[in-house]
Amino acid sequence: MLALIFLFCQIWLSIAQESLWSSPDACNNCPALCNRSYGNITHLGAHDSMFVANTSNSFTVSGNQFYGTDTQLDAGVRLLSGQLHTTNATGIELRLCHTDCDLYDGGSMIKWLKDVSYWMDEHPNDVVTLLLVNSVNANSTLLGASFRASGITKHAYVPATKLGAKTVWPTLGEMIQAKTRLVTFISSLPDNTGAPYLLDEFSYVFENQFEVTSPNNFSCMPDRPTNLKDKVSQAQSSGRLFLMNHFLDKKQLLNIVIPDRDNAANTNSPDPDLTGSLGKELNTCGAVYGRSPNFVLVDWFNMGPAISAIDAANGIIDPDGRTSVSTENPSKATPITYDGSAGRPRENKGVQIAMLIAVLCLVLS
Ligand SMILES: *[C@@H]1O[C@H](CO)[C@@H](O)[C@H](O)[C@H]1NC(C)=O
Ligand SMILES: *[C@@H]1O[C@H](CO)[C@@H](O)[C@H](O)[C@H]1NC(C)=O
Ligand SMILES: *[C@@H]1O[C@H](CO)[C@@H](O)[C@H](O)[C@H]1NC(C)=O
Ligand SMILES: *[C@@H]1O[C@H](CO)[C@@H](O)[C@H](O)[C@H]1NC(C)=O
Ligand SMILES: *[C@@H]1O[C@H](CO)[C@@H](O)[C@H](O)[C@H]1NC(C)=O
Ligand SMILES: *[C@@H]1O[C@H](CO)[C@@H](O)[C@H](O)[C@H]1NC(C)=O
Repeated sequence: MLALIFLFCQIWLSIAQESLWSSPDACNNCPALCNRSYGNITHLGAHDSMFVANTSNSFTVSGNQFYGTDTQLDAGVRLLSGQLHTTNATGIELRLCHTDCDLYDGGSMIKWLKDVSYWMDEHPNDVVTLLLVNSVNANSTLLGASFRASGITKHAYVPATKLGAKTVWPTLGEMIQAKTRLVTFISSLPDNTGAPYLLDEFSYVFENQFEVTSPNNFSCMPDRPTNLKDKVSQAQSSGRLFLMNHFLDKKQLLNIVIPDRDNAANTNSPDPDLTGSLGKELNTCGAVYGRSPNFVLVDWFNMGPAISAIDAANGIIDPDGRTSVSTENPSKATPITYDGSAGRPRENKGVQIAMLIAVLCLVLS
């Protein structure tokens, strides 16, 4: 009898190990992405990731997102953008502020990098990209010191040679295996001495226009770097990655421009037939360049939801391991519905019972 239980447990444990404890064979939530080059994937980006409008600040007009960086990453966002500033009060300490630290102070850069680094520790199969606007022209000594202080450099990817636009990007699987899963672009950075993982954005990337204030006015034309402005074929043949800005602003009194949250469901919609939708612009720009954009920056990432259009661009049908968020505008929706469980895999009753039997077996044997 005991031998029988023992045999049963042996078999059970080996099956359980296979199906429950093996690391997921997925890169950025999808097995099919593992073999694809970093440069052949459309990464969803949260524009101004850390500038959050929520109940804590009465949904400030200076926000670009309703949920913070961790929630974005959990939901499938893989590019985080932000702006670097300093204040007289804090000296050279780099902070993440929206336009000005008096307007919206998103806190210390080191602390934010620490949070991202921690998330990456917890998610070893995910490749994350940062895009930081260097509003204070911080040099690589100062930036590098802050990156090192945060500990995030242990995840950093360094291209083998300084090829800029001509870089041949590894596959996600290779980056994950090499534990170099963080790509960092700085806009701008003339020199990265001492911090080779900090990449000057416009040496590697071109962007279309931003500050669009009408759904009819999204454009695929290159806008920056300035030497590629309106030059589609040069931008294409330069080998740069294409970052598609796709967020809508609206003009207030005195021509002050703020992120448009009222139209965000339309702006971020995967529907390819809606004017100004993400689905439509992905198709339009995809046709212009003969391939999908590499990065898409959106405001209010949860709306649309933007990730649906990105999944379609990547040909992903069944993503794994995401935690989805309500697609509502929480400043309008009552009550706020945060769906904390949908999309989270391997948490059904069957799995829990299987785990329990496995633990009992471990205790018995
Ligand atoms: C990825 O490529 C490797 C080597 O070419 C191959 O062995 C593996 O099956 C591929 N994996 C997927 C998921 O396509
Ligand atoms: C990746 O390559 C496929 C096949 O060439 C192409 O259809 C797709 O648009 C590419 N995606 C990106 C982001 O380059
Ligand atoms: C609002 O967002 C900030 C920044 O992400 C966060 O620290 C705070 O906890 C959020 N407040 C609520 C009520 O979620
Ligand atoms: C910092 O101080 C200088 C000199 O007093 C002043 O000109 C500048 O406006 C201040 N900057 C900020 C961001 O407060
Ligand atoms: C980099 O910036 C820091 C802080 O502004 C400054 O002290 C340092 O001299 C600069 N280093 C170089 C090499 O320019
Ligand atoms: C949209 O673009 C057109 C043509 O460039 C321009 O005349 C118009 O002012 C733009 N509309 C807005 C709201 O920016």
